Amino acid sequence: MQSLNDIRSTFLNYFEKQGHAAVPSSPLVPRNDPTLMFVNSGMVQFKNLFTGLEKRDYARATSAQKCVRAGGKHNDLDNVGYTARHHTFFEMLGNFSFGDYFKEEAIPFAWNLITGEFGIPKDRLYVTVYHTDDQAFDIWKKIGVPEERIIRIATSDNFWQMGPTGPCGPCTEIFYDHGDHIWGGPPGSPEEDGDRFIEIWNIVFMQNEQFEDGSMVDLDMQSIDTGMGLERIGALLQGSHDNYDTDLFKSLIEASAQATGVDPYGDENVHHRVIADHLRSTSFLIADGVMPSNDGRGYVLRRIMRRAMRHAHLLGAKDPVMHQLVPALVRQMGAAYPELGQAQAMITETLEAEEKRFKQTLERGLKLLDEEVGGLRDGADLSGAAAFKLYDTYGFPLDLTQDALREKGFGVDTDGFDAAMAEQKAKARAAWSGSGEAADATVWFDVADANGATDFLGYDTETAEAQITALVVEGAETTAAEAGTTVHIALNQTPFYAESGGQVGDTGLIRTENGEARVVDTRKTAGVFVHIAEVTKGSLSKGEAAVLEVDHTRRQTIRANHSATHLLHEALRETLGEHVAQRGSLNAPDRLRFDFSHTKALSSDELRQVEADVNAYIRQNSTVETRIMTPDDARALGAQALFGEKYGDEVRVVSMGKHAGSGKGVGGDTYSLELCGGTHVRQTGDIGAFVTLGDSASSAGVRRIEALTGQAAMDHLRAQDQLLAEAAAELKAPTQDVPARLKLLLEERKALTSEVAQLRRDLAMSGGGQSAPDVQDINGTAFIAQVVSGVMGKDLPALIDEHKQRLGSGAVLLIADADGKVAVAAGVTQDKADSLSAVDLVKAAVAELGGKGGGGRADLAQGGAKDASNADAAIAAAQAIIGG
Ligand code: ALA
Repeated sequence: MQSLNDIRSTFLNYFEKQGHAAVPSSPLVPRNDPTLMFVNSGMVQFKNLFTGLEKRDYARATSAQKCVRAGGKHNDLDNVGYTARHHTFFEMLGNFSFGDYFKEEAIPFAWNLITGEFGIPKDRLYVTVYHTDDQAFDIWKKIGVPEERIIRIATSDNFWQMGPTGPCGPCTEIFYDHGDHIWGGPPGSPEEDGDRFIEIWNIVFMQNEQFEDGSMVDLDMQSIDTGMGLERIGALLQGSHDNYDTDLFKSLIEASAQATGVDPYGDENVHHRVIADHLRSTSFLIADGVMPSNDGRGYVLRRIMRRAMRHAHLLGAKDPVMHQLVPALVRQMGAAYPELGQAQAMITETLEAEEKRFKQTLERGLKLLDEEVGGLRDGADLSGAAAFKLYDTYGFPLDLTQDALREKGFGVDTDGFDAAMAEQKAKARAAWSGSGEAADATVWFDVADANGATDFLGYDTETAEAQITALVVEGAETTAAEAGTTVHIALNQTPFYAESGGQVGDTGLIRTENGEARVVDTRKTAGVFVHIAEVTKGSLSKGEAAVLEVDHTRRQTIRANHSATHLLHEALRETLGEHVAQRGSLNAPDRLRFDFSHTKALSSDELRQVEADVNAYIRQNSTVETRIMTPDDARALGAQALFGEKYGDEVRVVSMGKHAGSGKGVGGDTYSLELCGGTHVRQTGDIGAFVTLGDSASSAGVRRIEALTGQAAMDHLRAQDQLLAEAAAELKAPTQDVPARLKLLLEERKALTSEVAQLRRDLAMSGGGQSAPDVQDINGTAFIAQVVSGVMGKDLPALIDEHKQRLGSGAVLLIADADGKVAVAAGVTQDKADSLSAVDLVKAAVAELGGKGGGGRADLAQGGAKDASNADAAIAAAQAIIGG
């Protein structure tokens, strides 16, 4: 018997021998398609080769492609377990020609493989062609298929389209007749939906392209796209019509039976089948970077996981089961898909965590469901409100509830469910608009309602295709934006990081067929990623497909700075103590900033230690790992969480650095472990280098460290060197002597500064080089007034004192004029201070000198002014006040 692994190899080898490049499967999350949730056929990764948009160094290819059909347009989830042929995950075998061979060769290729290498009897085979495709009809006839077995089909069944737009063409399909012991009829007959005649291979003649406006044009090239489900051909070659009867599925079903202790082929078989299927889709999705969440792809994954878990529960499993089956899957498929083995730990951990979490509510939810069903009439629907409660409170995805009710013959009022969901969203929106956030946030709630949250792809890629779901100009939705417009753009998915957690938003380019926009920032509102952009060419329209590209170099430095911030945080805790907690951070492309609780300035030794530690962990070059878990699990592992921060059901936990005995992380040897939604380097070595720019006070009890990484750190050190070299040249001293010489110079400078100040005061007392001021007598009050040039305002109080001492009793007014600044000071001796205020004297003088205000005490006051040229008037004003 040929195993599924043998059949896959036979297929690929056969086409390799015919000059085809064996191309590995692309990841399940499509990078090059704006609308697909998951890759659902072999041609997706080659899409742009058919249209001529992309060229590669081969014109023929063959592949075994991982496909998921759950969520989105192709959704087989509901049928899995209950039919012989439905899967959420399957493998599509295919051969492709990009403008190379066409019908004449593609048909014999398929026929010879099936009837030759695979040895399928010819008299069991039927084929279909598109009703107008005489050419294909003739090729089949020539090969020897009797005319009555070549069936013309007029419907879309024989015209294949990958989606609403894109490459497409008529196709020809090969069917296998399982025999008259199974009910069903040949294609095109009223009984065609039965299980007797099964389509095994589809060959598409890619010759057209469908556009959004409904038009269809001929492609320049004529190409071939084929698809054969491995599980189907496997079942057939192993003598069954049931995909779950194949060697691969049997081994998974047996693993499930062993883990649960329930007979694999008895009454409970359906549960084992669901588990086996869902194990494959969930494991492959996790290996390709999808994580369970409440939106988009992550929610599809969660739905599949939870559905499988309910079936495990129905088998009576008390402990988590799914994660125990991962080794069996890796044994079966790890050789063909190495990514599975590489991600084994991650898959196991993610499945177990999800299973544990769901277990907490699964039983109570099922109890509620039983109570609700108890009150239902036969064939009635469960109320939308009850289904919503199961969703909202017990974490039951709608399809899980439907799956549970299906066995009992009940449905769900899905309209009622949607209404309950809409009501909850409206409440969330009301709470938001009451919170004083920007008014235009409401427009993003509308966008979120219509399209859901944006799927963020930016942990794994910085380039992707997406569909424009909304354009907002000046707070209002619009359908198009022309060059020169500032527009806020929402897309169904994006690699652009939206500002949060201290990491700045990404910048980059959005390109469509008709225009281009430069993204200057990315923010997030109501789960929608808002790309703030300037249309630079042509125009953008809502609904269009777009190619998104993040500024790579900028993002790379942001990642380095963000990862360095984590290492810095830990280094500070090690050096200063456990009281160090993050109070704020900034991860920008050019620098990083970290604010933390600590009361004193860091000594230069402490700062040096922290810097050395961070650099040591950079050189350690450990892999940065990300896991998704509950906040409680994260804390149990020792993760740093931000105080007062609200976390969702699950959090990303980023770990880096190895430190034996740290007690943190899974092995208790992780250096830094933080809850973080940001983007990070792959290895700590990617940070390159780290230098601090020193520490400063940010606010009471909070210090701030600014630092640089990578090239910026090197540039900074180089600039320091340059300064040192310049100083050395100036001092005519070797570079290494510069610090000592600098210290000496600073001491000299200090001595000279105080000497200059003393000289200034002496100069002023002696009249500033002018003759000593006269003492005037104004109604019995002695008064000295003087303009002193070259004296600084701060030296005036000392001068006033000296004058007051000289007078014994009286008033003094000094106007200092130095470096373009005018300072005024007045003094009144204590015996006169009751009746005469220095403040009044200063105010009057300042007003004459073009200034304003002035203040102090009755015995000494000061003020500033602009222009000393009116000094005589200022002195007269003071005299007038003294004269009463
Ligand atoms: N792309 C074709 C299909 O999926 C071969 O059926």
